[in-house]
Amino acid sequence: MSAPLLEIKDLTVSYQVGSNLLHRGGSRHRDVVRDVSLTVGRNQIFGLVGESGSGKTTVARTVLGLTAVRRGSVIFDGAELVGRRGFCVNQPRIQMIFQDPNNSLDPSMTVRQILAEPMIISRVVARSAIEEFSAELLATMDLPADALDRRPYQLSGGQRQRVGLARALATKPDLIVADECTSALDVTVQAHVLNLMMGLRETAGVSFLFISHNLGVIRHVADQVAVMRDGSVVEAAPAARLFAAPQHEYTRELLDSVPGFGDHE
Ligand SMILES: Nc1ncnc2c1ncn2[C@@H]1O[C@H](COP(=O)(O)OP(=O)(O)OP(=O)(O)O)[C@@H](O)[C@H]1O
Ligand SMILES: [Mg+2]
Repeated sequence: MSAPLLEIKDLTVSYQVGSNLLHRGGSRHRDVVRDVSLTVGRNQIFGLVGESGSGKTTVARTVLGLTAVRRGSVIFDGAELVGRRGFCVNQPRIQMIFQDPNNSLDPSMTVRQILAEPMIISRVVARSAIEEFSAELLATMDLPADALDRRPYQLSGGQRQRVGLARALATKPDLIVADECTSALDVTVQAHVLNLMMGLRETAGVSFLFISHNLGVIRHVADQVAVMRDGSVVEAAPAARLFAAPQHEYTRELLDSVPGFGDHE
């Protein structure tokens, strides 16, 4: 049996909370993620849910090598990603999409340049194939072919987020970490983007670590769900089971707080 796609084991991440300059005690640290373990399978959409400040983005940033690991292990496709300095090594097979494409897409670049850049850097796509693959990505994301010559501000919010998704796909990743990627979109546009993402699992074999505070969205997309609170995972289960029969009191509270979700056992 092959290894799971992503295994996070006993991950602890801490941030510095102010240095103590007057007393020579050095800086203090606070663990914002504590002993988190979760496993994302192949072809799986893994939903990570939890209240604001529970540590979801910190987990995502750590996997992407943007935040240092204090303790624990991040194993991707059987290989340890955590390097000697505590950061996960950059892995083009893992990509991220962000909540706000306005900040993550360079406004001075055309969509053609935005899509070509990661292909050139990662060398996953031959230069001669870049134009064709870019057109293919646009079609996959339901974007018009002439979008290639536009800049981000010449697109709608939903189109921009789909360009973000197309860019993430440009290195042919196995895993996309999506952090609140549809939260800023209105409901119908959100549904479109979510359905495109779910389609990618079938057509491109992509798995997702899908972060959202929106339980409705998580229920719509996720196969497996982990609930975080205050830096820890309090419950993890297949989505159907978690929504039908939540085991942890906090999960029940979360479900009860959303109209229409309080009908669990
Ligand atoms: N760079 C930083 N330095 C210090 N503390 C930080 C930093 N980034 C986040 N934190 C703290 O770490 C904790 C977890 O933050 P994180 O962004 O991971 O939460 P989250 O679950 O993604 O929340 P949200 O749903 O609001 O996006 C919070 O208490 C936050 O204030
Ligand atoms: Mg966050």
